[in-house]
Amino acid sequence: MKVSFYAAAVLAICAAGLLPLATPTPVPAGPITWLIPSESNVPPYQNGTASVGDTVTYVWSMYHGVVFSTSPDCNAKTLFQQIPGGADSASGAANVTFTTPGTIYVICPVGDHCSEGQIQKWTVSSAA
Ligand SMILES: *[C@@H]1O[C@H](CO)[C@@H](O)[C@H](O)[C@H]1NC(C)=O
Ligand SMILES: *[C@@H]1O[C@H](CO)[C@@H](O)[C@H](O)[C@H]1NC(C)=O
Repeated sequence: MKVSFYAAAVLAICAAGLLPLATPTPVPAGPITWLIPSESNVPPYQNGTASVGDTVTYVWSMYHGVVFSTSPDCNAKTLFQQIPGGADSASGAANVTFTTPGTIYVICPVGDHCSEGQIQKWTVSSAA
């Protein structure tokens, strides 16, 4: 009986944990699951819009990371700007805060991930 109670408790905890994922969230609320679209058979990342001061969370479960770039050129690595918490890691999460208006790209700096679609374009407007 103890075992089945335990199993039911685990199921309840899992169900509670999954509920937020089922709720559609507006951009840039996120969290955004960060993976290689072409490898995972998912559509490319949609272009996002945000305001200065907005934060979006990227989460990943394999070797990825996040950097900013002013260019969509995946090879322009000298333009890559570190994002706090965004270093490459086996799994991770980073809060990405937009600090200046304009067009900015969030890129995975690992291997060829960017050219395989792990790049998201953001149009950031001035804070309201
Ligand atoms: C996103 O922006 C890129 C570059 O400006 C453009 O080529 C692409 O069509 C846009 N994607 C969507 C879904 O609007
Ligand atoms: C992101 O921000 C939220 C809210 O402040 C915080 O709870 C969370 O720990 C942060 N995540 C990371 C990866 O820094």
